[in-house]
Amino acid sequence: MNWLIFLSVGLLSSDMSFAAKSHEPQLTLRSQNRTLVFSRSELLARPDLEKIKLNDIPTYPGKKIEYLAVPLFHLFEGISIKSDATIQFRCLDGFSGPVIPERILDHTPGRSIAYIAIEKEDAPWPAVHPEQGPSTAGPFFLIWKNPSLSRIDKEEWPYQLEGFEVQGSLRSTFPKIFPPQGTPEQSAEMRGFKIFQRSCFSCHKMNGQGLSDFAPDLNFPKSPTEYYTEPTLRSLIRNPQSLRKWKNDKMLGFSKSELPDSDLSDLIYYLKSMSKSRSQKE
Ligand code: HEC
Repeated sequence: MNWLIFLSVGLLSSDMSFAAKSHEPQLTLRSQNRTLVFSRSELLARPDLEKIKLNDIPTYPGKKIEYLAVPLFHLFEGISIKSDATIQFRCLDGFSGPVIPERILDHTPGRSIAYIAIEKEDAPWPAVHPEQGPSTAGPFFLIWKNPSLSRIDKEEWPYQLEGFEVQGSLRSTFPKIFPPQGTPEQSAEMRGFKIFQRSCFSCHKMNGQGLSDFAPDLNFPKSPTEYYTEPTLRSLIRNPQSLRKWKNDKMLGFSKSELPDSDLSDLIYYLKSMSKSRSQKE
């Protein structure tokens, strides 16, 4: 979400410290019938505050930073979330995108656990894009303890957070991104669909549905599986700049550790089958 940075330069500059004290940053969790608001000082005073050291994460490549953070699932206690609900994160500049409820609320031993890192006013984190300005990932940043356990993707670290919003089911909001009714839960198509939601849907629409106009629709009017050969498509997803390069390209590739070959095959299977069900409807 690198492009957010243009809009929030200077947010935490020191001459704003007085204003920041009287209008402390707040993290808001909203659902249809409840809104919970946590101020920065309230979060920093919680008994479940932990120190989490992370090295070389997507937002801060090559840096080792110790964060003060609280488990996100604790903050969501008191908000009821239906099993088919969707959750959107929202950033300070109004940008929003999907997070996957069963991942951000997961606290099963042996899995990655989502935390909200809180930036202290007197100890700001480094700038996210130093060449573009001083903005950091604060005031609130979604981080993961042991990110490798659940293979957390680079799209799953939203920063400059304002809060989260619990909404209705994904199927009621975006019915056209789903494989046809009756597709078995354990199929390659369904596995690929989950990968699409996790790694691609924050930028790409599917059949005209989605939150972002940042990147081309992956099925309308044509699917990339119709105009690229499979090896080309695989190379493009692994490293778009290996095929064409210009200074405004925005898609970062997906390495084998982020997206193993078998996951990439499932993803392509989903894209292919979506193109077939579209042509049946035409
Ligand atoms: C950070 C946003 C972002 C994410 C995440 C992302 N893409 Fe992209 N993608 C883009 C943009 C922007 C383009 C347009 C070309 C460019 O800037 O690289 C693009 C281009 C493409 C293209 C080429 C389309 C064409 O017609 O040439 C394909 C295929 C594609 N993306 C597939 C994917 C898949 C599959 C995923 C998930 C694994 C994904 N993208 C994740 C932003 C993204």
